[in-house]
Amino acid sequence: MTDEITIDHPSDHPGVRVLRFNRPQKKNALTQAMYRSLNAALDEAEASDAVRAIVFLGSEGCFCAGNDLADFATMATGSAVGGETLGFLRRLVEGSKPLLSGVDGLAVGIGTTLTLHCDLTVASERALFKTPFVDLGLVPEAGSSLLLPRLIGHQRAFALLCAGLSMSATEALQSGLIARLVPAEVLERETLALAALLASKPPEALRLSRQLLRGDPDKLSARIDEEAALFASRLQSPEAQAAFAAFLNR
Ligand code: COA
Repeated sequence: MTDEITIDHPSDHPGVRVLRFNRPQKKNALTQAMYRSLNAALDEAEASDAVRAIVFLGSEGCFCAGNDLADFATMATGSAVGGETLGFLRRLVEGSKPLLSGVDGLAVGIGTTLTLHCDLTVASERALFKTPFVDLGLVPEAGSSLLLPRLIGHQRAFALLCAGLSMSATEALQSGLIARLVPAEVLERETLALAALLASKPPEALRLSRQLLRGDPDKLSARIDEEAALFASRLQSPEAQAAFAAFLNR
């Protein structure tokens, strides 16, 4: 397990499990080791009746800069596969506990697409959402090609996923990408308070209600698989390899 993911059970917020990205020196870019820790933490949370809500947080001023691009470059050589990433996505789709995220600062790539799986996202005024998949020679992942147009409409989803344009916190609130916009200094407090509120609800009623709102998970899982197959072949493409090299050799 890596200490680049920390797991907290805040005693003043019973029933809330906090999973924090803790690699600030690399803008919380996610490695396979970090996904492995996230997966173990999600399994443990799913199995525990004491956990009623799961919160994703980053560090001050940076939620997550997406997948580690050095890992992507390694995967492109065929020496490793992103199995832990896919496992993470499956857990997001299949888990029964409410998911929340508190986004302060940058949310790039999976930093943004992760929030599409969250039931409530709170963002700070300085949050910035960005999914530069096409610029990296890649295609959207995490079911975002299905979830994002459904959530904010084709035009705004296209601007993010295909044109690679950023979305500010204000735009994210207006478009329905996030539930609340708060000052950075109260972001974590507000997110944890919402998680604690959910944790205090009758769990079975909440589980069934959440299931109704989220709809059929099979369609989403099928889209994640479809995206993953394209993504794997795009990782090997000259377009992607040139983009990774450009970033890593800056
Ligand atoms: N993968 C690997 N390392 C990353 C990273 C990523 N996704 N994002 C940031 N880092 C590293 C940088 O290489 C740098 O490392 P170094 O100090 O050892 O050189 C460190 O984090 C700080 O990043 P830096 O670029 O100096 O900070 P910044 O504030 O100028 O820019 C970003 C931050 C996130 C805008 C910029 O780093 C970036 O564009 N990262 C790539 C994001 C991305 O494309 N993610 C994949 C999406 S699918």
